[in-house]
Amino acid sequence: MINKNIVLGVSGGIAAYKACALTSKLTQQGANVKVIMTNSATKFVSPLTFQALSRNPVFTDIFDEKDPEKIAHIELADWADVFILAPATANIIGKIANGIADDMLSTTILATKADVYVAPAMNVNMYGHPQVMKNMQTLTDIGYHFIEPGAGYLACGWIGKGRLEEPDTIIEVINSHQQDRGLLSGKKVLISAGPTREKVDPVRFFSNRSTGKMGYKLAEAAYEMGAEVTLVSGPVNETITSAINVINVTTAEEMYQAMVDNFSKQNIVIKAAAVADYRPKVTHEEKLKKQDGNLHIELERTKDILKALGERKTEQFLVGFAAETKDHKQYGMDKLKRKNLDAIVINNVAQEGAGFGSETNIVTYLNKNFEETEIPKAPKKEVARKILKLILQDMKDEEA
Ligand code: CTP
Repeated sequence: MINKNIVLGVSGGIAAYKACALTSKLTQQGANVKVIMTNSATKFVSPLTFQALSRNPVFTDIFDEKDPEKIAHIELADWADVFILAPATANIIGKIANGIADDMLSTTILATKADVYVAPAMNVNMYGHPQVMKNMQTLTDIGYHFIEPGAGYLACGWIGKGRLEEPDTIIEVINSHQQDRGLLSGKKVLISAGPTREKVDPVRFFSNRSTGKMGYKLAEAAYEMGAEVTLVSGPVNETITSAINVINVTTAEEMYQAMVDNFSKQNIVIKAAAVADYRPKVTHEEKLKKQDGNLHIELERTKDILKALGERKTEQFLVGFAAETKDHKQYGMDKLKRKNLDAIVINNVAQEGAGFGSETNIVTYLNKNFEETEIPKAPKKEVARKILKLILQDMKDEEA
């Protein structure tokens, strides 16, 4: 926690008093803490308490702009390394899940790119309400980390799940998550993502349903774990931090060139892209006009990039992806052997919550000793982190 910039958002529940202990413990551990309170939170605890504990001014009003040079909520959002929402009421969770920004806390949280940890606290029945569950799922899917409430006596008289997790546990969870950040430092990671497009004529192409999400999350997670990341991306709608070197390509041939050109200097190479296996043999410079009868387009094979990398491999740890709809493990294993991989991530795209376009994924990680690890349904960023940790573990085992 030393020198970490932490914004602590306190919303209006009785557990707001526990946020005081959290502020105090974070500050004692060397973190810089700035607190934002909702209007309701100020009914439970005075802002002065948080000001004294954090030794920083407390933010409560979006329109209370003290410095004309800055916009407070953007300044705070950018300043944060970590954003903690504790206690998080059903109301603030619902607002954020639906993109509502109507006060200092909700506005700042929507503007931040920091890791967000949410520690809910509410009545047990509210916590179990389908709409609250749905809102928490929405936030989980976009990468927020939930620190589940404990079970016990609740201030409302009920016994059950809804009690804000203890400040020490909240700090422990965040610490262990943040420690992952140095795991890949000094490592170079090359990732390919998205589909390729194979041109038919100036207005038409063959492609596939890949959105590039899994590859982008892998790149983001590798970067956050300290790696120097190069991302070779097919045409997608994803965005990523400018700290990652992105090489945009369109066709399988362009992706082949970019991957081969950058391969030799890497430690880890992950091919998450959905490369077209075929392309039109002839591409037309003018738009094809329709005619009576059927149209036949002859397709020819593209280069198998992963196989080419497998043949060139020296020290690199090479990982492929397999999108399968049946017999996924068998097909995955075949690909691992055929392409000389160190591991393969097998995606059963027929499962709900897995594969193309989904915010979540469910995969099996299989290494070259055919040891399998199931990664259950989780947001793609979380799955990405787990894949990277498994790769690191395998690399360590190989070195040993
Ligand atoms: N891949 C590649 N170059 C290609 C095709 C695929 O590098 N021309 C890579 C993908 O990025 C992915 C893996 O190979 O990492 C997928 O393996 P592949 O056998 O090509 O998958 P499918 O195309 O799904 O194969 P099949 O049609 O045999 O199921």
